[in-house]
Amino acid sequence: MTGTPQGDTLPLERDFEATIGHDQRIEPRDWMPDGYRRTMVRQIAQHAHSEIIGMQPEGEWITRAPSLRRKAILLAKVQDEAGHGLYLYSAAETLGADRGELTEMLIEGRQKYSSIFNYPTLSFADVGVIGWLVDGAAICNQVPLCRSSYGPYARAMIRICKEESFHQRQGFELLLTMMRGTPAQREMVQDAVNRWWWPSLMMFGPPDDASPNTERSMAWKIKRHTNDELRQRFVDITVPQAEVLGVTLPDPDLRWNAERGHHDFGPIDWSELKRVISGDGPCNAARMARRRSAHEDGAWVREAAAAHAARKTGREVAA
Ligand code: 3HC
Repeated sequence: MTGTPQGDTLPLERDFEATIGHDQRIEPRDWMPDGYRRTMVRQIAQHAHSEIIGMQPEGEWITRAPSLRRKAILLAKVQDEAGHGLYLYSAAETLGADRGELTEMLIEGRQKYSSIFNYPTLSFADVGVIGWLVDGAAICNQVPLCRSSYGPYARAMIRICKEESFHQRQGFELLLTMMRGTPAQREMVQDAVNRWWWPSLMMFGPPDDASPNTERSMAWKIKRHTNDELRQRFVDITVPQAEVLGVTLPDPDLRWNAERGHHDFGPIDWSELKRVISGDGPCNAARMARRRSAHEDGAWVREAAAAHAARKTGREVAA
């Protein structure tokens, strides 16, 4: 079933719904509703943007890593994030999106990236906390996406999730080492946890009753769980890990609720998420300025690659 239908799309819509209903994958050459295509381009592009912008906070510590081993691990992780961005832009291109246009939309603020990357990394403990909490949250969010209904996205997630597991483990191990260090190192870790805990919970998106996209994305099996379900899963997984580390999660309302079989946690400041998403976070301007200048600095590479391709194929290729 390929290509765009002429005239009555009803049989095609039925096939599409049946494919989704049977938990099968929609592939690039399959017919799909325009809304599904738009939603997939939106989510995949913003996921890709997040991976690329996400290189900045930790990237700032590569030159200041405390040892060659830490520097090598951090280099590998930041490089992985770039690769995740490239897989995801490639997945978006299977839907007819153009990578250059998506980048323009990001730089012009017409597309988003994850709020979490708009916070500063004030010490090397932040590198460990980002690995432990931010990549830990990413794993909670991305493992179900390996079963997302759009084939190229789900398959990109399988490779990305394997690498995220290394990211999370190296962060946890870094923090465990620091927590076994000096009081000053332990204090550095606790300070970083205090600053990154709530923004990590916000990564999962607004509450379900304030999410305009969740219902449709669940019906199309793009999302397999709601924002609140994944946030709760992340809290339940992370609390025992915090106990092993010996850090305190900055939420006085956090406690095990035997009746629910989950941890209760305190209210999230949704006005902060709204502010950061709308561009008014601690580092939004710096992150975008950096992304813009990297794009400008790379223009000559794109032009050279396009000229080379044009010469090889004998036709003009957009730079
Ligand atoms: N930061 C920025 N924007 C956010 C956000 C956040 N934390 N949470 C939600 N939003 C935006 C949504 O994009 C949407 O805006 P849009 O319609 O203009 O795109 C709006 O707020 C309403 O949110 P919804 O919950 O209705 O939107 P979604 O159904 O798209 O859910 C999502 C949001 C849970 C982030 C979902 O898009 C998703 O699962 N995306 C894939 C995973 C992803 O992008 N993760 C980002 C982090 S990347 C990362 O973790 C890298 C790792 O290496 C650390």
